[in-house]
Amino acid sequence: MRKIKSYVVKGGRPLEGKVDISGAKNAVLPIMAASLMARSPVLLQRVPRIHDVDIMLEMLEALGAACSWEDAYTLRISPPSELGVTAPEKLLREMRASILVVGPLLAREGKAIVTPPGGCNIGPRPIDFHLKGMEALGAEIVEGDGQIVFTSPRLTGAEVMLDYPSVGATENIMCAACTASGKTVIHNAAKEPEIIELQNFLNLMGARVKGAGTDRITVYGVEELHGTEYTVIPDRIEAGTYLIAGAITGGDVLIQNVIIEHLESTLAKLAEMGYDIQRGSDSVRIKAARRGRAIGVRSMPYPGFPTDMLPQMISLLSLAEGVSMVYESVFASRFKHVDDLIRMGAQIRTEGRLAIITGVDRLRGTTVRATDLRAGAALILASLAAKGQTTVENGEHIDRGYEDVVGKLRGIGVEITES
Ligand code: UD1
Repeated sequence: MRKIKSYVVKGGRPLEGKVDISGAKNAVLPIMAASLMARSPVLLQRVPRIHDVDIMLEMLEALGAACSWEDAYTLRISPPSELGVTAPEKLLREMRASILVVGPLLAREGKAIVTPPGGCNIGPRPIDFHLKGMEALGAEIVEGDGQIVFTSPRLTGAEVMLDYPSVGATENIMCAACTASGKTVIHNAAKEPEIIELQNFLNLMGARVKGAGTDRITVYGVEELHGTEYTVIPDRIEAGTYLIAGAITGGDVLIQNVIIEHLESTLAKLAEMGYDIQRGSDSVRIKAARRGRAIGVRSMPYPGFPTDMLPQMISLLSLAEGVSMVYESVFASRFKHVDDLIRMGAQIRTEGRLAIITGVDRLRGTTVRATDLRAGAALILASLAAKGQTTVENGEHIDRGYEDVVGKLRGIGVEITES
């Protein structure tokens, strides 16, 4: 069980310095799950030390894989000759991405037993697209007693049409199709960079996948997959969050070890607000000499503005000049932190998925509570700019996806402690 903790921040000063970005949470989680399909060990480098990785590691071990840290960021995963097929309910409840073991388990063992997943508290997150995909590949699915049992002696390649470009469903179906007989085509696939990374990783394991990064992914089934070595890409959401830390405090921050292309939608919005953005080959610097201007933002699947950056953007727009309109198109409830922002002095009105933000000159510190990972990050950002001290309770949500948040923020001049 995770320790409940609070982050205490003394805000109000411009931040300066450098931040090194860690490996991407949303890349490493599906890749860890896919490792279960390998018949020999997998070595993953630049694995972020975050709580969600710990949960996936626990999941892999529960299914029989031996996992060990070779050094701080290098993880060895050795799947056994026969995997367990029941994913523990506790882990599924704690993290939605646990559902990503279904495809790999079906591919290798012809069976997977799960309970409906939980995870971040951002509205309903059904798994119907995952179920439809597995069914299209020939899996028999029986639901009952709170369990979902997937069975198929060997999956068969098929045309799969996704109703929505779901990231997790695309990943699960890609994995399941790797050792199916024949060819699978996923139409209306998600185009996120993490999908391209999963394709790269699967191909290193001996799979034949192409088309990731477009809305049509083709998988030619192979007999079996083997171990490999792979280095995780940088986390574009962590990078975006620290860019906003620079912007919201009127600071000057250099974000290092990033893939600029993955940040374009966030950088475009920051530039539109009037911030000075300087791109390096694998770094980006934000200089925020003046208050940003109000803008409109709508979250969309990649390459649109990421839903995972929307709460942080709302914190920044709370202090912009003018009235901003923010629309969340992916999840039902991305505005859980808005009441706390209002208590800090923000002027925000929400109507369903729309937030109308009238920028104020200043926020003030108080006690607030993180309800999920990105809402928590957004409250930390608000606290950096707020006058006085802010306590962010339930800070453990932030540790799910941000490595060493105290160390990284102190590195750019933040007075922050955890308790
Ligand atoms: C992934 C990311 C998460 C990000 C999200 C959208 C990981 C580990 N997590 O989550 O950080 O916020 O993509 O970019 O990569 N949906 C259904 N039925 C399904 C599946 C999804 O209705 O079977 C809906 C969801 O409720 C949501 C939308 O589709 O409204 C997008 O969800 P999806 O892309 O699947 O998100 P995740 O893979 O869960």
